[in-house]
Amino acid sequence: MTKQIFMTRRIPARAEEMLRGAGYGVTVSSKDGVLTRDELKKALAQAPYDAVVPLLTDTIDADMIAAMPPSVKIIASYSVGFNHIDIPKAKERGIVVTNTPEVLTATVAEHTVALILTLASRTAEGDRFIREGKFVGWEPMLLLGTDIKNKTLGLVGAGRIGSEVAGILYNGFGMKIVYYDTKKNEALEALCDAKHYTTYEEVLAQSDVVSIHVPLLPATHHLINKERLALMKKSALLVNTSRGPVVDELALVSALKAGTIRGAALDVFEFEPNITPELLTLQNVVVNPHLASATEETRTKMAELVATNIIEHLSGRTAPNALA
Ligand code: DGY
Repeated sequence: MTKQIFMTRRIPARAEEMLRGAGYGVTVSSKDGVLTRDELKKALAQAPYDAVVPLLTDTIDADMIAAMPPSVKIIASYSVGFNHIDIPKAKERGIVVTNTPEVLTATVAEHTVALILTLASRTAEGDRFIREGKFVGWEPMLLLGTDIKNKTLGLVGAGRIGSEVAGILYNGFGMKIVYYDTKKNEALEALCDAKHYTTYEEVLAQSDVVSIHVPLLPATHHLINKERLALMKKSALLVNTSRGPVVDELALVSALKAGTIRGAALDVFEFEPNITPELLTLQNVVVNPHLASATEETRTKMAELVATNIIEHLSGRTAPNALA
């Protein structure tokens, strides 16, 4: 019988091409938007699917896994993050879960650096200033930013993406690199002369730019809270391209309003797609609609990886990105 794949949303065509090329049937949700829980459950019940491709906007919790037909053998997420999937529950049902690591590392790192530079150089504010018709000519004190050259980058999480960000800013901007991670990253230390700290607090207190690169786990929820923001330099910039709930958004708003830190750039939000309204009233905030991996090349590579994981697993081999 033809193996059947269900995708909760259209992703780059490469995935479907590869899956159809392998002889599988592919059903893509016809809704132009995120399926509600009921819609997703209903869609899953339509056929004896062998594989499900969710996005990070689909919550695949125990209840959703229970709603999947018994035929499902793999959940191949079109994302590197997997906090939206209950992996132990999937395992209990004998379902393998995969993600899309590595192919998006360089793109997310580039995007993170773009946000840091945007914040430091106030280019988003400058853009708004012109569009609002306020530009009347060069001014000596207009929208003064801050340099990042030779300053200190503090990484909260020094995995693949954090390390790539450090490499760009160390080599291109001479930044000193300090990092918190549960493990020492010997490669990062060798490449960027990075210094490891065993507490968040030590990193936050000495950094001019703090960039967050931890997964969302119970232990990292609200990792950046009122107390930790208070430890940061008044001149510091905070950038988050990981997951929104790592930052307590209300605490961040208060810190930005009080001048506890200089500014923040956010690609992700605590209650995504909702944004704490006050954030949008602050000029020292740069916001982006979760775009860090959004290049044509990378999104296509992510689609390829989704298809590869499914094909390998359904062919009886090990999916390259199976999560433990
Ligand atoms: C992911 O894939 O988890 C990223 O957040 C997408 O940008």
